[in-house]
Amino acid sequence: MLMLQPRFCVVFSLLFLCWVLVPMAESAIGVNWGTLSSHRLKPSTVVDLLRDNKISKVKLFEADPDVLKALMGSGIQVMVGIPNEMLSLLGSSSVAADFWVRQNVSAYITKGGADIRYVAVGNEPFLTSYNGQFVNLVLPAVTNIQQSLVKANLAGYVKIVVPCNADAYESSGGLPSQGVFRSELTQIMTQLVQFLNSNGSPFVVNIYPFLSLYDNGDFPQDYAFFQGTSHAVTDGSNVYTNAFDGNYDTLVAALGKLGYNQMPIIIGEIGWPSDGAVGANITAARVFNQGLVYHIASNKGTPLRPNTPPMDVYLFELLDEGAKSTLPGNFERHWGIFSFDGQAKYSLNLGLGNKELRNARNVEYLPSRWCVAKPSSDLTNVVNHMKIACSVADCTTLNYGGSCNEIGEKGNISYAFNSYYQLRMQDSQSCEFDGLGMVTFLDPSIGDCHFLVGVIDKGLNSSSSQTTYQWWVLVLFLNLHWIFLLSM
Ligand SMILES: *[C@@H]1O[C@H](CO)[C@@H](O)[C@H](O)[C@H]1NC(C)=O
Ligand SMILES: *[C@@H]1O[C@H](CO)[C@@H](O)[C@H](O)[C@H]1NC(C)=O
Ligand SMILES: *[C@@H]1O[C@H](CO)[C@@H](O)[C@H](O)[C@H]1NC(C)=O
Ligand SMILES: *[C@@H]1O[C@H](CO)[C@@H](O)[C@H](O)[C@H]1NC(C)=O
Repeated sequence: MLMLQPRFCVVFSLLFLCWVLVPMAESAIGVNWGTLSSHRLKPSTVVDLLRDNKISKVKLFEADPDVLKALMGSGIQVMVGIPNEMLSLLGSSSVAADFWVRQNVSAYITKGGADIRYVAVGNEPFLTSYNGQFVNLVLPAVTNIQQSLVKANLAGYVKIVVPCNADAYESSGGLPSQGVFRSELTQIMTQLVQFLNSNGSPFVVNIYPFLSLYDNGDFPQDYAFFQGTSHAVTDGSNVYTNAFDGNYDTLVAALGKLGYNQMPIIIGEIGWPSDGAVGANITAARVFNQGLVYHIASNKGTPLRPNTPPMDVYLFELLDEGAKSTLPGNFERHWGIFSFDGQAKYSLNLGLGNKELRNARNVEYLPSRWCVAKPSSDLTNVVNHMKIACSVADCTTLNYGGSCNEIGEKGNISYAFNSYYQLRMQDSQSCEFDGLGMVTFLDPSIGDCHFLVGVIDKGLNSSSSQTTYQWWVLVLFLNLHWIFLLSM
């Protein structure tokens, strides 16, 4: 890959030099790097993991300063997200938008900086389950951020996108050619797509065949994978043999109805979880992800866009995030192609040069010890302890369909105790449980059920204090702005 400093690119792109030097876009596999983990790897360890696996594109859900700093000088292209909770502020105050761009984009686009290429304004803001609360906040935020990028001289280099969930569109009879955006979104989508088109931005969509399967017992299993199906969908002269192509073309048709047949598409999230629910297992995750990678690499495209695969595909996701909400389901903490500690869960060729995934190097683990239920103790009063432990620590593998579902009652208790103990960084008090817990040096893992050992987390405190500081500066800034306006 050619490494060019973004600043140079901005200057030279006018002379078309950049376009000559940067290899022409070929569909590339990137990854989502979410950080809602109770055991965070050092960001520099994760960046090494990306580089070792030749992953050159990463999508972030927010502008975490520790993460962006670690990406500086790596040559990895970054899509940086703005959480939905910030849309209201950024859409209502151009000063806040300027400040966001200055602090979270401009500051990194320097020589040896982070190569930010996209700003994702909101994350699935039109999701049905948000009941429309973010719908009207998107365009004002997009407008303000775009103006801020223009002011910062970055609008030619950093493109705005709005990652949408596939539930933004639908089709009657499940025929891709009948794809339309949800009727209540027609107006906003028309405006958004117009903006994206005039700005040279792609449409970003998140597609999840796993959720189709999980939510709908009648969904044909084999249609989710890329291995042929006994339930092909025939749509005129087109035959669909996998859910991905069908879903993608539904979007292509929906964009076409708005007059944007050719709009480039990026897959912002796609993947398969490996644990925590029926259908979420290592085999299925490997088959899906490998099938997807080969399908994309074949450059075959889809029936409505033959020979034109999506611009980029960001796998969801790099690492398991053990602190994510389980509201969508217990699988939600198990989407990683690597476990929380950067160890590959299964064999996968990402099509980027290595035949296999390479594990994270130099991971600093806590000592090899675990907390389990004392063998002799009376466990009748243990239920509450377990509940409390599992309300803060991750116990999702214990559920039906999970890798630890069959380890028995005592196994369940030990698993919960250990999860809590590791979350508390093996603090000796955290294995108390009124005398029911004890520390062991023998790995209690049983079969596929893995009892984890935490990693040493050095980054946690610095980043939280930094966020607080940033907010104070912003508050000050906004106040000065008001004083300025009032004095006019
Ligand atoms: C930059 O992004 C971070 C992470 O989302 C956020 O906490 C911070 O407030 C942003 N900075 C500004 C000035 O908005
Ligand atoms: C894994 O999931 C797949 C598809 O979701 C399912 O067909 C298969 O039976 C599961 N395998 C196991 C061992 O549970
Ligand atoms: C262990 O816990 C899981 C999740 O709560 C439950 O489904 C399972 O039945 C439990 N096993 C036993 C033997 O109690
Ligand atoms: C992080 O901060 C909290 C409270 O501010 C403190 O209790 C804790 O010990 C700190 N952890 C580390 C690893 O420094």
